[in-house]
Amino acid sequence: MITSKELRNKWLSFYEERGHVNIGAVSLIGDGTTGVMFNVAGMQPLMPYLLGQKHPAGTRLCNVQGCVRTVDIDSVGDATHFTFFEMMGNWSLGDYFKKEKTKWTFDLLTQVFGLDRDEICSTVFEGNDAAPRDEETAAYLKELGIKPEHIYYLDKSNNWWELEGTVGTPCGPDNEWFYPRHNVPCGPNCGVTCDCGRYVEIGNDVYMQYRKTETGYEPLDNKNVDTGFGLDRMLLFLNGLNDGYKTDLFIDAIRKLEELSGKSYDDDADARKAMRIIADHIRTGVMLIGDKNGIVPSNTGAGYILRRLLRRAIRYTRNLGVTTKALDEVAKIFIEKVYNEAYPLLVEKEDYILAELDKESEKFDAMLVQGIKEFDKCVNSLERKNEFMARSNPAYVKETTIAGKSAFRLYDTYGFPVELTVEMAEERGYKVDMDGFDAAFKEHQEVSKAQATFKGGLANHEEATTFLHTATHLLQAALRQVCSPEICQKGSNITEERLRFDFNFDRPLTAEEIKAVEDLVNEKIKEDIPVVMKEMPYEQAREEGFTGLFESKYGSTVKTYAIGEFSKEMCGGPHAEHTGQLGTFKIKKEQSSAAGVRRIKAVLE
Ligand code: ALA
Repeated sequence: MITSKELRNKWLSFYEERGHVNIGAVSLIGDGTTGVMFNVAGMQPLMPYLLGQKHPAGTRLCNVQGCVRTVDIDSVGDATHFTFFEMMGNWSLGDYFKKEKTKWTFDLLTQVFGLDRDEICSTVFEGNDAAPRDEETAAYLKELGIKPEHIYYLDKSNNWWELEGTVGTPCGPDNEWFYPRHNVPCGPNCGVTCDCGRYVEIGNDVYMQYRKTETGYEPLDNKNVDTGFGLDRMLLFLNGLNDGYKTDLFIDAIRKLEELSGKSYDDDADARKAMRIIADHIRTGVMLIGDKNGIVPSNTGAGYILRRLLRRAIRYTRNLGVTTKALDEVAKIFIEKVYNEAYPLLVEKEDYILAELDKESEKFDAMLVQGIKEFDKCVNSLERKNEFMARSNPAYVKETTIAGKSAFRLYDTYGFPVELTVEMAEERGYKVDMDGFDAAFKEHQEVSKAQATFKGGLANHEEATTFLHTATHLLQAALRQVCSPEICQKGSNITEERLRFDFNFDRPLTAEEIKAVEDLVNEKIKEDIPVVMKEMPYEQAREEGFTGLFESKYGSTVKTYAIGEFSKEMCGGPHAEHTGQLGTFKIKKEQSSAAGVRRIKAVLE
C-alpha cells in the first residue's frame, strides 16, 4: 500500500534529485480576466514560461498542483470521476528534452513504483501536416526496453495536447504511459486501444514545442517538456484498486458517512452514490473556500459553481439520511487528516471553512424541503395530465418537459441551482425547458432593474455590487499609497451590502492608516473621475502599468480599467462610469485573514 502523502513526496524527491526546483502550487482560482475560472492543468500557470519568458526558479521545475474540472460534475457518483484532483508535474523549460524525459519517466515507473517493464505500454504521435511522426521518442522507448509491440503510434485526437479553445498557448505531441489492471481480464488481443478498461493511462509527457495560432501551429524557440501524472488516479492504480473512493484520500470520509448513516457503502448502491457525491463535492468545496484566493458561494461565476457543488451535496445528505452536520465531519477529515501536510492553509482556515459550509447549509437546507415539495407538485401535475390525456386519446404523446417558469421559481424562491432541478427531473424521466428558464431569468432581471430605477439610489443589487467593485479598486490603490506599494489583492468578495478585500500586509493597520485610506478613497470619489475601460493585449497592459492577479495571460486580450492615474487594474468589470456615483466610503472592519494577509470590510453609504 502506498499512501497519498508518500506518493506526493516520492514524485517531488525523484525530480528534485534530478535538479528540479519545487515551485509549489498556485491558487485554484482564476482572477476572472481570462475567462478561465479554475486552474485545470499543472501547466496553466506556467504558460508564459513555456512560451519563452525566464522563470525565476530556473529551467527545471516540479510541483503537485491542485486542479478543478467541473465539466464532469454529472458523472461524479461513479468510481472514477472527481471534480478536484492533484496533478503531479515536472517541466523542462528549454532544458532537457525527449532522451532524458523518456528515461526518467521509465525509471520512476519501474524503479520507484515497481511497475514491470514488460507490461508498460506507451503511445506516441503518428504525425500530420503540423508535426512529424515521433520516431525519436519511440526509439528511446525501445532502447529503454519497452517491447516494440507495446509502442503505439496514434493520431492527434490521442497524442496531441493543447488547452482547448485557446490561441497563443504552448502545445505539442505527447507520449502517454499505460499499464494494465490485472483485475480487469480481457482477451489475447487486448491492448491500449481496446475499450475494455484493462489499460489505464497513468500520465503523459507533452513535448511542448509549438505555439497555437489562429490558423495552425508555429514552432517555439524553446523545446519544453510538460509532464502530468494524476495523483488520484496513480494512487488508485498503484494500490491495485478500481474505486477511487477506496484510496486513503477518501476512505475515512466514506467510513464516517457509513457510521453517521448506518448504511453500507459496499452493499447499498444508492447510499454509495450519495456518499461519493458528498465526499467529492465537499472536498472540492473545502479546497475552493480554503484556497489562498478563496471564494464563497454566490450566484455568479466561480461562486455559483461552488454553490452548485455544495447544494448538490446538501441534497444528497437527505438521500443518505444524515443531517448537514455530516458535511462538517467530512470536511474536517479532509482538512485535519488527508490534506493537512500538503495544504497547511486549510488547517489555518479550518474554522472559516466550516463556518462557510454551515452558512450555506443553513441557507439551503431550510428551503430544500419546501422546494422538493414544489418540484414534486410540478412533476405530479404533469403526470396527472399525461394520464388523463392518454385515456381520452391513445395517440397522445406524453409531455416530459418541466416548464422553464417552474424551474425559475425553484431557483428564485427556493435557491435550487437549475442544474439540480435538471438532475432531479432526469431521475423521474423528465427534462427542463432551459430556454424557458433563461427567458424567465431575463424577464425577472429586467423587472427588478426597472423597479430599482424607479426607486432610484442603490436599491438595485447589480448596481450596488458594481459600485462596490469600483470602490475595491480605489481601496487597493489607496492602500498602496498609504501603507505599502507592495500591497496586492489576495482575495475579493462583494455582496450587495459590502466589499471584502484581502491583501498582503504583515501587521494590523493603525487607526491613522485606516482613516488616511478612507479619506483618500473619498477624495477620489469627490473628484468624480471617469472610469475608463480598454481592451488590449496582456503584454501591453503590463507595460502600461496595469496590475493583475496572475502572470498567466500571455498572448491573450484583457480588459483594463483606469481611474485616472490613481488606479490601473486588469479586471473583468463591470464598473461604475465615474467615481462620483459611489457615495461615501467607510471601512467597517480591519482584521487578519491568514498569515501575512489582512482583510478589510467596507461599505458605501
Ligand atoms: N498538460 C498535460 C496534462 O494536463 C501534462 O495532462
